Amino acid sequence: MMRNAARAMVFAAGVLAVAALTSPATAQKAGPTTKQVMKAMNGPKGFVGATVAAAKGGDWDKAAQLGAKAAQCAAALGKNAPKKGDAASWEIQTKKYAEVGAEIEAAAKAKDLTALQAAAKTFGGACKGCHSVHK
Ligand code: HEC
Repeated sequence: MMRNAARAMVFAAGVLAVAALTSPATAQKAGPTTKQVMKAMNGPKGFVGATVAAAKGGDWDKAAQLGAKAAQCAAALGKNAPKKGDAASWEIQTKKYAEVGAEIEAAAKAKDLTALQAAAKTFGGACKGCHSVHK
């Protein structure tokens, strides 16, 4: 029950963050390129790996901060146009990407290592599906 409430709050915060990114004040400022998102998210030092590492080390404050960055960064990908593949597929793929980012943030904030690892696994399993069409 508490966990659901916490998740709902985290989700609401994520929606606000996305709304902030799309607000007129920030609309002129270009977001990260797709390459920048890939670099920031992936690898052992990327937001996702670093979030899991912090959580495993018991530093949940750090995990929550990194998870929030992962969610924000993931949400930014959908603002870019794909250099390959059609727009409808890109929308589906980037929506999923943003959802997994939000799950990572929610799990880190809920201090739920099992959910965090599950979300990180989903994230890691989605590379090929998107790259085969859009990279
Ligand atoms: C929603 C689609 C999508 C997903 C999911 C995705 N990628 Fe990418 N990735 C891309 C696209 C598009 C490019 C090509 C960017 C370009 O060349 O401008 C790319 C490029 C890359 C690059 C090359 C970056 C560079 O500097 O040239 C790496 C590395 C990479 N992705 C790693 C990953 C890994 C690892 C995962 C999974 C954990 C992943 N990507 C998931 C869309 C995606």
